[in-house]
Amino acid sequence: MFYICGANIDDLMKKVLITGGTGFIGSHTIIDLINHGYEVVSVDNYTNSNAKPLSSIKEITTVAVQNYVVDLCDLTATEQIFKDHPDITGVIHFAALKAVGESVAKPILYFKNNLNSLLNILECCRKYEIPNLIFSSSCTVYGNADELPVTESTPQKEAESPYGRTKQIGEQLIKDSLKGSKTNAISLRYFNPAGAHRSGLMGESPVNPAQNLVPVITETAIGKRDEMTVFGDDYDTRDGSCIRDYIHVMDLASAHTKALEYLLQGENDSAYEVFNLGIGAGVSVLEAINAFEKVAELKLNYKIGPRRPGDVIAIYADDQLARERLKWKPEYSIEDIMSTAWIWEQNRTKA
Ligand code: WQD
Repeated sequence: MFYICGANIDDLMKKVLITGGTGFIGSHTIIDLINHGYEVVSVDNYTNSNAKPLSSIKEITTVAVQNYVVDLCDLTATEQIFKDHPDITGVIHFAALKAVGESVAKPILYFKNNLNSLLNILECCRKYEIPNLIFSSSCTVYGNADELPVTESTPQKEAESPYGRTKQIGEQLIKDSLKGSKTNAISLRYFNPAGAHRSGLMGESPVNPAQNLVPVITETAIGKRDEMTVFGDDYDTRDGSCIRDYIHVMDLASAHTKALEYLLQGENDSAYEVFNLGIGAGVSVLEAINAFEKVAELKLNYKIGPRRPGDVIAIYADDQLARERLKWKPEYSIEDIMSTAWIWEQNRTKA
């Protein structure tokens, strides 16, 4: 064990800046990082969240995480965070607008917000020689893939939405702007994040009306919605509804900790690498609904409606690279996703 001025070198190397720290995946990742001995600083301006996850994190881990309420599109305010914390060993950049449908309606907002905030983070990583950057990317970079499952080298088709386009451009900006810098970077391509922390104290709590399947299911089940719509059952799939790779948010969280450790231990082969984060299995909308009805022991009120513009028919991951290189293994099933999401929905409605 090495010490500098009495401080254990390992501890010195373990401060992480989380952008979007009060968001769905960011807040759950903070819990996993704290459980693995990391010190965490968060920055989140509550565009699509609030401060509540910070008290949930404290209740679950006993740690009070500092959050800077800063718009990352403001370079001066963003840079101040790096000045305040010269010992940041890694940045995990979650902060972004991420509603596929909204991005079609408001493309300029998405391009300005998602790309300007990323460019400011990249500028600070370079200027303050931050050793490691992990970027929240998405399976939407693949578009409507010709072959399934998709691997990290599956050719990227046209993005189906401006949101997906910001992730395609974001990955390129990271590759090009960190070349020759001291920062090693990883893009993690999430498939469909869902579920909630096992404690029932934290989960997906969008400030705006939920659009993703799992929160729509739980809001329908608890009565916040009279009924939900299945957007199409006439696709060329096993039961006619769209297929996705649903991954539990705590499996996503553990993958971020593994990716950071992979970089801290110098196990990366190159300065920029990409990993798919799915569980490697496809589940249809109707199968997801059946899984929920089984774990909640209730009949969900849904109808079949027209297809939703922008939906890809089917996508699921080949996640072998993350399993082998990051030594990561997803632990949660679709039933775990539904049971944890249902417990969280009931708790957040009672609160
Ligand atoms: C899933 C399926 C819908 C709601 C998400 C995120 C995006 C990105 C990729 C990370 C589709 C169907 C939904 C409803 C339905 N994740 N559905 N009725 O579109 O795959 O994108 O994952 O970056 O950020 O949005 O997820 O949950 O919206 O839809 O039938 O009321 O459920 O048509 O087939 P999507 P989703």
